[in-house]
Amino acid sequence: MKIVYFSVTGQTRRFIKKLTTTNVHEIDAVDPDYQVGEPFILVVPTYEAAITAPVNDFLEYANNLQYFKGVVGTGNRNFAELFIFTAKDIARDYQVPLLYAFEFSGTDQDVLNFQKVVNDIESA
Ligand SMILES: Cc1cc2nc3c(=O)[nH]c(=O)nc-3n(C[C@H](O)[C@H](O)[C@H](O)COP(=O)(O)O)c2cc1C
Repeated sequence: MKIVYFSVTGQTRRFIKKLTTTNVHEIDAVDPDYQVGEPFILVVPTYEAAITAPVNDFLEYANNLQYFKGVVGTGNRNFAELFIFTAKDIARDYQVPLLYAFEFSGTDQDVLNFQKVVNDIESA
């Protein structure tokens, strides 16, 4: 399973670096077009749509949607009902499951929980 992510201020990138997998891809805000060609999970931070637009460009590029297994949101719970709205919108718009949520660059427990979610999908 490839882990695809987007990061604006580096928190999501820090989370990804804590994982044991190296099968990762960071969406480039300037040049988001990238053909994945294998099943992937998206990890996305939460910002207004103009900032996360490269994520949509990536998802809709080539046949990427065909391999899209689910989305994980990272955000800040101080935003209350707006917590991880980007991941929720993506789950709704692309009809994929919202798999997990955490804050900022995640805790050690978030890393364990995330890895379990990925393992469960791989063995399903
Ligand atoms: C301008 C701005 C707006 C944000 N809006 C939200 C929000 O509406 N909901 C939320 O859950 N987090 C929000 N966040 C928090 C970020 O999504 C969170 O810090 C995330 O971990 C950032 O990831 P990144 O450093 O990889 O870009 C916002 C952060 C900033 C700076």
